[in-house]
Amino acid sequence: MKPRVLLTRRIPSSAFATLEAACDVDRNDGELAPQDLLSRVRDKDGLICVFTDAITPEVMDAASGLKVVSTIAVGYNNIDVAAARSRGIVVTNTPDVLTESTADMTWALIMDITRRVSEGDRLIRRGGWKRWSLEFMIGTELRGRQLGIIGYGRIGRAVAMRAKAFGMDVVYANGPATTASGAISVDRLLATSDVVSIHCPLTPETRHLINQASLARMKRSAYLVNTSRGPVVDESALVWALKNNIISGAALDVYENEPAVHPDLLTLENVVLTPHVGSATTDTRTAMADLAVRNAIAVLTGQPPLTPVG
Ligand code: DGY
Repeated sequence: MKPRVLLTRRIPSSAFATLEAACDVDRNDGELAPQDLLSRVRDKDGLICVFTDAITPEVMDAASGLKVVSTIAVGYNNIDVAAARSRGIVVTNTPDVLTESTADMTWALIMDITRRVSEGDRLIRRGGWKRWSLEFMIGTELRGRQLGIIGYGRIGRAVAMRAKAFGMDVVYANGPATTASGAISVDRLLATSDVVSIHCPLTPETRHLINQASLARMKRSAYLVNTSRGPVVDESALVWALKNNIISGAALDVYENEPAVHPDLLTLENVVLTPHVGSATTDTRTAMADLAVRNAIAVLTGQPPLTPVG
């Protein structure tokens, strides 16, 4: 008998074909309500999910035979990993395959907010462009300025690599702790950087790492960019900082309560907002689904997982 797997979202057909060849698949299309997740996981050996599915101890206990939770994401703050470990359930994620696309997206946001790309687009669409002038829509040049990266893992490093091409100096910090060699403290990074880009995972220690006090440390001319997880930034504090010119602008791909966005962010011109699309390219999403499928199949056939968490 093939192992039974609940797949909580549609995935590219090549990855689905690989999964179907090895497993009996219960595929959900569209959203999956928590109650439906609980009832459909009950008789499953494996669960392939996305980061918007909350994989709680209750979900794990609903499926007495569950052996693997394979998320199609690098971030796994939606999964209670300690609870999984104590139940002998393997958790896997999809690192590496999304590094380059997420770093590219980060740079799209850095360029957009510093050169006012979306702001100019909005202006033209509402008929607001009347004439060219020397003082019109002046942005910030990046060459010679400092990029501060919070969270110097795979994606943080890929963002730093691209900074060379723009002539930026790079400093980095590793979340609240200053451990890696070369890392500086978050406070120092905030006080000295012209662009601050967040790439740390969401953990209890990094929740609201960027708050009113940390924003107040930043230069008035600086920009904040976040492509990691929304709750790393206290969104209300960010609104305060943007409204009071404590910082110059922010570019966000992630939010505290997705898909909701703080209503005041929608009214501010010095903000760029994208809908959590850091890894959203065909190549990357296909590679993520493929890796998640291969992780699930490995565990369900008694092999070591390719990319286990922890
Ligand atoms: C991730 O992988 O964690 C992203 O946020 C979703 O692609």
